[in-house]
Amino acid sequence: MTEAQLKDLLTQMTTEEKVGQLLQLATPFFKGASDRGEITGPMENMNINEEDIKHTGSVLGASGARETINIQKTHLEENRLGIPLLFMSDIIHGFKTIFPVPLAIGCSWDIELAEKSAAVAAKEAAASGVHVTFAPMVDLSRDPRWGRVMESTGEDPHLNSQFARAFVRGFQGDLDNDAHKVASCVKHFAAYGAPEGGRDYNTVDMSEWMLRENYLPAYKAALEEGCEMVMTAFNILNGIPATGNESLMRGILREEWGFDGVLISDWGAVKELIPHGVAEDQKQAAELALKAGVDIEMMTSCYTNHVQELIEEGSLEESTLDEGVLRILQLKNKLGLFDNPHRFASEEDEKKYILSPEHRRASRELAAKSIVLLKNEDVLPLNAEKKVALVGPFASNTDILGPWSWGGSAEDTVTVETGLNQQLKDLAVAKGTDLRDGNEEDLKAALQTAEQADVVVVALGEHSDWSGEAGCLADIRLPEVQLDLLKKMKQLGKPVVAVLFNGRPLDLREVTEHADAVVEAWYPGTEGGNAVADILLGKVNPSAKLSMSMPYSVGQVPVYYNSYSTGRPKDAPDAQERYVSQYLDIPNEPLFPFGYGLSYSQFEYGELQLSADRMTKEDTLTVTVDVTNVSDIPGEEVVQLYVRDNVGQVVRPTKELKDFRKVALQPGHTETVTFQITEPQLRYYHANMEHTSDPGEFTVFVGTNSQDVKAKRFRLE
Ligand code: NOJ
Repeated sequence: MTEAQLKDLLTQMTTEEKVGQLLQLATPFFKGASDRGEITGPMENMNINEEDIKHTGSVLGASGARETINIQKTHLEENRLGIPLLFMSDIIHGFKTIFPVPLAIGCSWDIELAEKSAAVAAKEAAASGVHVTFAPMVDLSRDPRWGRVMESTGEDPHLNSQFARAFVRGFQGDLDNDAHKVASCVKHFAAYGAPEGGRDYNTVDMSEWMLRENYLPAYKAALEEGCEMVMTAFNILNGIPATGNESLMRGILREEWGFDGVLISDWGAVKELIPHGVAEDQKQAAELALKAGVDIEMMTSCYTNHVQELIEEGSLEESTLDEGVLRILQLKNKLGLFDNPHRFASEEDEKKYILSPEHRRASRELAAKSIVLLKNEDVLPLNAEKKVALVGPFASNTDILGPWSWGGSAEDTVTVETGLNQQLKDLAVAKGTDLRDGNEEDLKAALQTAEQADVVVVALGEHSDWSGEAGCLADIRLPEVQLDLLKKMKQLGKPVVAVLFNGRPLDLREVTEHADAVVEAWYPGTEGGNAVADILLGKVNPSAKLSMSMPYSVGQVPVYYNSYSTGRPKDAPDAQERYVSQYLDIPNEPLFPFGYGLSYSQFEYGELQLSADRMTKEDTLTVTVDVTNVSDIPGEEVVQLYVRDNVGQVVRPTKELKDFRKVALQPGHTETVTFQITEPQLRYYHANMEHTSDPGEFTVFVGTNSQDVKAKRFRLE
């Protein structure tokens, strides 16, 4: 349809039909759905009727070619103007072929593979009838207690922005021409990743300076990449719920950034303006959200029940409604739904693409590149000839897909046991304990198994329900029974390798103390067991680096690398013993810093070279460093570039990641890694929110992680 035809369609719609476009309901509400079942209760609760369902604009959570085709067909028979439904789903880290959780993908620092993972997910989902995915989630987070850290790529605005772009490219590409793509919806706008105390849905209060510096860049990056939709956040931001926050939505998102796509509320978030205490009732909630610019209301019916009334009594302009409806029609048109309402839904293609060997390979490759080697005292890689005991609650566990993997299934998942069995000659397995509860018998069996072995691999971790939405924890240590199992294994005097499956940075002090090697596998996805085996046996040399700091203890949280220097830094040359910024009982530093991760190779960094010691705003400064693989194993290294503005008008972080390169090095080989610094990279938000640079001295750092770096200074004139 042309834009004129779309506008004409809008003029033919009744107010009721228009309001319908703003409603999103879950699959069971629709007549064509196989699981329609008993919906009278939910409909009564929402005060909606069959007529409202006929007018509905979009569906939440539908997938399966047959299902989506049925729902669409039935809907088109009943919808007076033949306006197709939009099918939206949470395709977060894979559809049926599950990839590692996004936090793990963040640790790969592999932008290309991240893009590919989203492309694979899009292909499977599109064949299954999905039009829009509620991803990427790009909420920066510094608090591992928050369950949703697993859904974000970590704590750094630059790295998160790179991944945000990659995911949008992978999911969406060029929607007009690319086959099997889905529109993407970046979320949760804004600052959902900073709830007080790490408790989900909780208060967010931060200065505009902090928001712009750290939290907004990744959303903006996704939009610059062409992301079609934005989802609001559940939290309040500086006193105003994001979902009714006009200055955030109309101000920053639409006016400042020029976003003209569809803005959707999170699940029930419009109605939640009532418990937040900013709306008296659903009518006021509808008014606040629509005025703030929220187009689609997900799963509550404040708009359906009250927008017409608000217009009739003059509290709301009809044009505000029209604006939202037009954007939704435009998106449907862009997706080609007026010409082909079923889009790529095809049972035949589902069979062809879903869990294809190619998709499984991509998942295995990315999983292996996401696994972080945290400690290795001459234990790994394992010798395939040795007798290995695999113990622990994750030894044969299929719960390694992680939260937001509803499309994945246990039957398709490769466990650690299966993966190791493919590559080891002699493997014996015993669970030892459940996740939180153990018994003497299981422990005894595990000890007996381990006693026969040369090496013990202990697979430990968190149930996937312990992270994800509403999966917050105040204690971020592994449960006592699991630590106990590890200690008992260590007491046998054999080399012990801990492999961890979890959705957040944990306090790993005891684990690192009692294991000779520690492998952070996160939730690695469908091919997880194979990827873990690839790493343990050295088929893949670990190259992942933490994209979020691993705290020393929960008492440090939030602990992040790009923090600001205090007036009393502990490491100042003239620091006093007591009156400095420190804890008396624990170090200031995390257990493992941002950017940290070991390899089976060893890399040496030469001295940093700068092309000049000063630059003007027009210059490009070239930074070079020689990186040598001094081991006899080929490996990959993520070379990281950080900058510090030594004296700013506003206090600057002690380090900020500006760039990175992943280099593959053969034994004995050296590569000269080159970075370029230009003035825009040195800009930051000043007190008046201007994004400019200050002339003066900077330090540039290059290194293997955010702490272990070489430094040089230069001046910006
Ligand atoms: C709530 C979650 O916060 C959001 O991320 C998700 O997309 C929606 N539910 C829809 O499932």
